[in-house]
Amino acid sequence: MTDVILVSGSPRADGNTEYALNLCKEEIEKHGLTAEVLSLRGKEIKGCIACGQCGKLGKCAVNDDLNEFLPMIKEAKGFIIGAPVYFGTARGDVMNFLQRMSMVARVNGNWLAGKIGGPVVVARRGGLTSTLQEMLMSFFISGMTVCGSDYWNIAFGKDKGEVANDAEGVQTLKTFAGNVAELIKKVQ
Ligand SMILES: Cc1cc2nc3c(=O)[nH]c(=O)nc-3n(C[C@H](O)[C@H](O)[C@H](O)COP(=O)(O)O)c2cc1C
Repeated sequence: MTDVILVSGSPRADGNTEYALNLCKEEIEKHGLTAEVLSLRGKEIKGCIACGQCGKLGKCAVNDDLNEFLPMIKEAKGFIIGAPVYFGTARGDVMNFLQRMSMVARVNGNWLAGKIGGPVVVARRGGLTSTLQEMLMSFFISGMTVCGSDYWNIAFGKDKGEVANDAEGVQTLKTFAGNVAELIKKVQ
């Protein structure tokens, strides 16, 4: 079992979302927990079709790549998901992922409740805080505990790896990830 699962919602290998989540992973590991970054890159994550079958199946009925992620997240104590901003909102498959996972968890014993983590957002310039808020909706309705930082969990960058130059963003994410790890250690 990995303590914290981090999911990158960018289609770009070595992009800013992956950079941001790897920073979080390293910080969590520094605090003595295990962490793994998974990626939606190359995966098919369709929208919820409101079929209501997840309560009977224990997983999503849609035949794509969502279900392979769920057991790892269900087992973990912490969950972090990162998205790039696309036209002022989270990349579409990130919201598909959050909505379908939240519904599967909700009708199968509410298994996301009590997990500790939060969303992380990267973008070139605009839409970061509203995207963070958009992603937070799934965390809160699922009973997850969201950790704060010394700023919101956002970092600026356009080309691959550019978020590394956003010193405040880097520090914010490190503080966030450290808070996630310390809270997990306190409650376990
Ligand atoms: C389709 C598309 C739409 C985008 N829309 C925005 C936007 O609304 N605001 C913004 O600041 N950046 C926007 N960007 C830039 C990305 O958010 C930015 O390059 C980000 O770092 C990409 O993350 P990644 O490297 O993890 O893929 C957009 C990029 C793409 C491809």
